Amino acid sequence: MTCPMSVIVSIRHYSGLLKKPLQDILCHIRYSISTFQNIYLFSRPVKTENMSTGFKEVKRVTTNTLQEMKKTGHKITMLTAYDYTMSKIIDHGGADVLLVGDSASNVMAGHETTLPITLDQMIYHASGVVKGAARALVIVDLPFGTYQGNSREGLASSIRIMKESGAHAVKMEGGIEIEESVKRILTAGIPVMGHLGLTPQSIYKFGTYTVRAKEKEEADKLLSDALALQEAGVFALVLEKIPTELAKKVSEALTIPVIGIGAGNNVDGQVLVSHDMFGMNQGFSPRFLRRYLNLFEQMTGAVDNYCKDVRSGDFPSDKEQY
Ligand code: KIV
Repeated sequence: MTCPMSVIVSIRHYSGLLKKPLQDILCHIRYSISTFQNIYLFSRPVKTENMSTGFKEVKRVTTNTLQEMKKTGHKITMLTAYDYTMSKIIDHGGADVLLVGDSASNVMAGHETTLPITLDQMIYHASGVVKGAARALVIVDLPFGTYQGNSREGLASSIRIMKESGAHAVKMEGGIEIEESVKRILTAGIPVMGHLGLTPQSIYKFGTYTVRAKEKEEADKLLSDALALQEAGVFALVLEKIPTELAKKVSEALTIPVIGIGAGNNVDGQVLVSHDMFGMNQGFSPRFLRRYLNLFEQMTGAVDNYCKDVRSGDFPSDKEQY
């Protein structure tokens, strides 16, 4: 009987390993376990028994899970979602975090900027997302004008989001200037995520959506803002469109997870706007974007086929009617 090639390779591999020092073998085992955890533990819904109901349920990602992932070097996956169906799809696909981003203002409402979206509209989007997410942590953007310069309003807005949508945390843009709001919101037990770099709510101050913090002065300010936000108590930080080297420096300086969008690979996780990564938007092609589908073409193609079938009388067929 011949031995399969893969078995021979494994035997050689492990007998080779035995000659190596014990430390190397332990390191190899540790690496295999962490790869296993990364693929199967952190990316698949795990069912556990609920102590009070006795039902098996999916173990929810929490802010502690993200902290643990930073410590153990497991990359965090985050995508935006704005409704129940998309939330269900992205949660089922295994993303750790769903962000109800104020990018809903652009991709759902068709506004040019994120400024017009209201708190009521964000709560409407968030309540659908919460219902669709069995495993992912759901974070909601505090929209423009609901926290800036007024920490009491920041707290009131956050409480409305948590109460009316059932979300698990809020996200706010800005550095040292939002420190008081962050601290006040935390007093109510609401976890806060920070957001630095390109902050679209301040687009009229920047005047452009180009890469931020390329100059030393702005880079230094970003790092000190990041440290101030961590000190104030944010559980994680989004860095948008900044140089990779700066993102690396910030991520290394912080003990909380740093999640990047257009901030390179030396951070603790990545986030993309789901409509962009599904290829639903045409004409938006920043360098950092990787499209995993071309849904715009596939969906317009489906609509075209449907119209042809209706117009020709092919749909509905005998089998598709009562
Ligand atoms: O609103 C949003 O979608 C965001 C992400 C780009 C991070 O803030």
